[in-house]
Amino acid sequence: MRIEYFHASKSGNGARVAEEFRQGMLARGVTVNVHHIRDATPSGLPPADLYLFSSPGRLGKPIRGMRRFLEKVALPAGTKYAILTTEAAPKPDKKTGLMPSDEEVAKWQRVRPIMSQILEDKGLVEVAEDKVFVTGLKGPLEEGWQQKVAAFEARIPVRS
Ligand SMILES: Cc1cc2nc3c(=O)[nH]c(=O)nc-3n(C[C@H](O)[C@H](O)[C@H](O)COP(=O)(O)O)c2cc1C
Repeated sequence: MRIEYFHASKSGNGARVAEEFRQGMLARGVTVNVHHIRDATPSGLPPADLYLFSSPGRLGKPIRGMRRFLEKVALPAGTKYAILTTEAAPKPDKKTGLMPSDEEVAKWQRVRPIMSQILEDKGLVEVAEDKVFVTGLKGPLEEGWQQKVAAFEARIPVRS
């Protein structure tokens, strides 16, 4: 099984997540080729059993480079993909000190829904989706992020 992983890391956090995923999957006998989107041609992606896309968030959306990349992806309908983003961790409300609910976060945080929509419109099929938080705008990654990546790896169906 072969996975091609495309990320758009700006400050290095997404690149670290990609490397962690690559190593974890290698331990399960799966080859993961990691690429930054600036080094890849979306209309001519290499063949793979699964494509993984990862973007940082900006203003509640995936960064523009990733949106454009996904729009240009040319893969047959039915191709499997997964999404693993790095996103800003929700913060407590300054006045009330309360953490926003999932519904409140979902109103402005649209990174993964936007990525999925572009790919679903092309007939691609999602197998897993998750995010790893960064605690500051440019990092670091949240405590326990490696376990989160490991849990994500476990959700990837592996065939030999
Ligand atoms: C100007 C700016 C705006 C950001 N806006 C968002 C946002 O709207 N949603 C979000 O989840 N993360 C946001 N972030 C945090 C990014 O998700 C974070 O920088 C990124 O995940 C880090 O990954 P990277 O090191 O791979 O670039 C923002 C960061 C910056 C610098």
